[in-house]
Amino acid sequence: MTKIAPSILSADFSKLGEEIKDVERAGADYIHVDVMDGHFVPNITIGPLIAESIKPHTTLPLDVHLMIENPDQYIPAFAEAGASIITVHQETAPHLHRTVQLIKQHGVKAGVVINPATPAEMIRDILHEIDLVLIMTVNPGFGGQSFIPSTIHKIEQVARWRNADGLSFEIEVDGGVKAETAKSCTDAGADVLVAGSAIFKHVDRQQAIDAIRRSVQV
Ligand code: DX5
Ligand code: ZN
Repeated sequence: MTKIAPSILSADFSKLGEEIKDVERAGADYIHVDVMDGHFVPNITIGPLIAESIKPHTTLPLDVHLMIENPDQYIPAFAEAGASIITVHQETAPHLHRTVQLIKQHGVKAGVVINPATPAEMIRDILHEIDLVLIMTVNPGFGGQSFIPSTIHKIEQVARWRNADGLSFEIEVDGGVKAETAKSCTDAGADVLVAGSAIFKHVDRQQAIDAIRRSVQV
């Protein structure tokens, strides 16, 4: 079944613990944590301290999406904070293989993510080392942006490689995912849907998650 990973970027940060419990009750599979540094992306969000403080409020895996320069410098801190998955941008990691090994050395699942303008070929040779591929379906930096349909062929491409090579990493998509766009992602091969505004901007999170789930089942 398709997994849903609510992005807390669109949650109410003044009551983050409650917000996370709310989406856990509503059937979320992962908690997606967007880390931004104001350099790689034009926004600043949260650091390891917040990840650590939300950890006791959920039994769900923390899916940490690092949108930061020099990710190696912060991987140990996010691992200690309780991350289950740490995903790094190919665009920020010139020694991507080394970065992936560093994540795994900390006992955390390793993910790699590419921006809308980055070809899937850039991560072709690391696929056998990782647990998750994240395809950005918006330019990272903000919640609530519009889905970019030209990214879908990369989901298909990565799914074909996974099949051809007998690999088992998950394919996640992030950005502009809602009931109207989710099915194009799952049809292309996505297993995990990140959704921020489509979940947290609704009062009834159960209804919001159910709407996304229903949309991919038809
Ligand atoms: C964008 C972040 C996303 C964001 C998604 O830079 O990586 O996780 O929160 O938000 P929506 O679902 O509103 O596009
Ligand atoms: Zn994200």
